[in-house]
Amino acid sequence: MGAAGNLAILGLQWGDEGKGKVVDLLAPRFRHVVRFQGGNNAGHTVVVKGESFALHQVPSGALHEGCLLVVGGGVVLNLEVLALELERLESRGFAVRERLLLSEKAHLILPHHIALDRWREGGRNRIGTTGRGIGPCYEMKAARMGVRLGDLLHPETLADRIRPGFDEVLHLLGSPEDLPPLERLVQELLQAATPFLPLIGDAQGRLFEAWKRGEPILFEGAQATLLDIDHGTYPFVTSSNCSLGGLFTGTGLPPKALGRVLGIAKAYTTRVGAGPMPSELLDATGERLREVGHEYGTTTGRPRRCGWFDGPITAHACRTNGVDGLAIMKLDVLDGFGEVGIVTGYRDGEGGVSRRVPGCAQDWEGLRPEIRRLPGWSAPTRGARRLADLPPEARAYLQVLEEVVETPIAYLSTGPDREEGCLPGGSFLQGLLPA
Ligand code: GDP
Ligand code: IMO
Ligand code: MG
Repeated sequence: MGAAGNLAILGLQWGDEGKGKVVDLLAPRFRHVVRFQGGNNAGHTVVVKGESFALHQVPSGALHEGCLLVVGGGVVLNLEVLALELERLESRGFAVRERLLLSEKAHLILPHHIALDRWREGGRNRIGTTGRGIGPCYEMKAARMGVRLGDLLHPETLADRIRPGFDEVLHLLGSPEDLPPLERLVQELLQAATPFLPLIGDAQGRLFEAWKRGEPILFEGAQATLLDIDHGTYPFVTSSNCSLGGLFTGTGLPPKALGRVLGIAKAYTTRVGAGPMPSELLDATGERLREVGHEYGTTTGRPRRCGWFDGPITAHACRTNGVDGLAIMKLDVLDGFGEVGIVTGYRDGEGGVSRRVPGCAQDWEGLRPEIRRLPGWSAPTRGARRLADLPPEARAYLQVLEEVVETPIAYLSTGPDREEGCLPGGSFLQGLLPA
């Protein structure tokens, strides 16, 4: 059984690192591209010759005809949104339906999940969620009141599967106007589900067979380690395991089915939503990062909070996921800054400096970033395809970044398009990407 070629792509910060670009870039070398957690809170952008595609639930191998697209059991799915996504892809010439397999174990995002998410976000304990019902859907799964895609194949018992969770939400919210009665909800769900019924199947079995046959598998993480429900900045996180553990529970494959892990990080830091972010720059520098980097959410359009590259959180993510190499994205956004910074540790109120990532929300309070400042560069890196073509200051910056994170750079991205990037000598991706 060939596992060596199977590769995981995981976000190392707070999401939106550029996972979509890297998955699309590598996909031609893989037979299967698999999502294993998250839902349409994800927005993965792929840019081809200036044309942009935003993928939310369809794996980012969508643009490659030879890729089979698998939505694993750990994913939560909104079928109405999926229908729109497929339509949009089809209208642009990418028929993916025939290549799509949806796990019977994946959970359905239902209208009352969305209502509950939005109701909570209107209260005092706001997380700044995407409002897509992700949290409540995973809650219902854990509370054993969830509804799986496989349940759609048993329409006669569907209302009974949905009722317990639906009733609990009504109990809490009263009868919100935007929520249909259960009977109508079931009817509408069955209608929305009809075109998808032939796509529902045994994704775990398919992947196991693929692994046995040695067909290469690319695993596409959504969100990122600092948003992981266990290893992120709890409670300001999403509701799934976006780090490596989620890959195994979300596919049903064992760890020995995985070869390598590529961790994706921006050359600076961003975050959408509330929660700790010691690197955040609330000044003109942060504003410039946001404007130059177009740091507005792919899913919700919200402005992203921006700051210098945060070494400790990225090192934590590398340890959590056993990252073999880094893909550093959006280096070009730093072009033209007089000075660039890397957060190397956090200073507490008593003057101590630590590289430890706190485990409790309260312990983040009062932490100030310890910043190593380096000279910026004026010659553009945008579109660079060889490291040798980068200005020496940019190379020096990347060297410090590698040292701080204690992980080598395996790919460097210098623009949104497929072609814009460099493959360092010695990268484990050699052979997968053109030099
Ligand atoms: P994902 O959620 O991790 O897939 O990332 P998103 O797609 O939400 O956000 C990344 C954004 O950065 C997208 O708009 C990409 O097109 C863009 N992008 C990716 N790599 C680069 C790069 O190297 N340079 C620039 N300027 N933009 C990039
Ligand atoms: P991709 O895959 C960035 C954030 C939300 C919020 C928190 C919880 O594109 O990197 P949720 O709706 O999941 O309950 O929201 O997580 N969040 C993301 N931030 N990129 C994402 O996905 C995100 N998915 C969720 O902003 O802070
Ligand atoms: Mg995104």
